[in-house]
Amino acid sequence: MASRRDFLKATAGAGAAAAAGLGTARPLLGAPAVLRGTATPVSVASGNGLEAVATAIRVVDGGGDTLEAVVEGVNIAERDPGDSSVGYGGLPNLDGVVQLDSSVMHGPSRGAGAVACLEGIKTPSRVAMDVMRYTDHVLLVGKGAQRFAVSMGHDIEDLLTERSRRRWIEWRATMSDRDDYLTPEETGHGNSEPFEDEDDYGLGILDSHDGVRPQGTINCNVIDRNGAISGVTTTSGLAWKVPGRVGDSPIVGAGLYVDNDVGACGSTGRGEAVIKTCGSHSVVELMRAGMSPTDACLEALRRIVTFTVEPRLQRDDGRPSFNVNYYAVNKNGDYGGAAIWSGARFAVCDGGDSRHEDSAYLFERNG
Ligand code: GLY
Repeated sequence: MASRRDFLKATAGAGAAAAAGLGTARPLLGAPAVLRGTATPVSVASGNGLEAVATAIRVVDGGGDTLEAVVEGVNIAERDPGDSSVGYGGLPNLDGVVQLDSSVMHGPSRGAGAVACLEGIKTPSRVAMDVMRYTDHVLLVGKGAQRFAVSMGHDIEDLLTERSRRRWIEWRATMSDRDDYLTPEETGHGNSEPFEDEDDYGLGILDSHDGVRPQGTINCNVIDRNGAISGVTTTSGLAWKVPGRVGDSPIVGAGLYVDNDVGACGSTGRGEAVIKTCGSHSVVELMRAGMSPTDACLEALRRIVTFTVEPRLQRDDGRPSFNVNYYAVNKNGDYGGAAIWSGARFAVCDGGDSRHEDSAYLFERNG
C-alpha cells in the first residue's frame, strides 16, 4: 500500500506539472517579466543593515550561497546588544519577555522556513534556516520552535539586556496612574537615555494611542552574479506587545517574499498592516508585472493606506499614524526602498562600500 508520504509526493508532483503547464500547449501562467539576471551582485536591507549588506556581498563574492550570505549579515544585528529591534537586546513584550520572529527564503531551491514567538535564542534567523533545511515544515512557533532549536544545537540564553530591561520597567511604570508602580519621576530613578537606534531609519510607528512605540526589524535580500536570490527578515517585533503576538516578519508573503524568477522583497514597520495586504508578495507580483522595485514598493504601500480605515490608526488628516517600509531587488539587480512616510533610509551594497539611500515615500512627514 502506498504511504501517505508517497501519496503526497505523487499528488504534489502532478500539481506542479499542471501548474507549470507541462504536457500542454498552454503558456506558463504568471510568467516572469524579468529574466535577464545581473552581472553585479546586489544586496539591499533596512537602514539598520549597513553591515548586513556588506557581509552578504562579501559572502556571495566569495562563492557562498545567497541564503547563508543574508543570514550571516543579519546575525550581526541579532547578536548586537545595542540593537534594540532584533535578537539579543530586543525590546520585550508586556511581560518583559523577548519573543522573536524570523523567516528566510532561498530562491534557487524555492525553500522557506520561519519561527515565531521564539524565546531565548539570539539568532532566530538561523533557526528559521534550520526549519527550512531539516524539516518538512515552514513555520514553527513558541515552545515547539524552541525545542527544535535546542535539538539543532542552539543555546538558550537570557536575551534581556540591562538596557532593554530598564526600558521595559520604565514603560510599565508610565502605563497607568491607577496601579502600584511609581513613575520614574516619583522614584527619582529612570530617565534612561533614549535609544539612539530607535527610529533612526524611519522603521517604527510614528505615533499611536500610547505614544511612539519602537518597532524595529532587519530585512536583507541579495542577488548574486548567477541570478540566485535569497532573503531574510528577523525581529523582536513590536515593543511591549501582547504575549504571543506575531508580526509580519515570520509570515512568508508578508514580511518576506522571494521568487527566484522575479526578485525579493522584505518589510519593516507595522506588521499588522503588512500581513493584511500580503505586502512582500504583492511587491514581488508587481515587479513580475513589470514595475520597478521602487514603484512596486510604493504601490503596495498605497494598498496599506487604503486598508487603514481604523480611526485609532489614522492621524487627524486620515493618513496612517504608523510607518511601513519595503526593500526590494529584482532579477536584473535593480533595487529600491519605499516607506509610507518621508525620512526613511535603506542600506545597499553592490560592491565597494555599503551605503544608505533615501527611501521613496508616499507622504511628507511634516506635510
Ligand atoms: N515588522 C515587525 C513587526 O511588526 O513585528
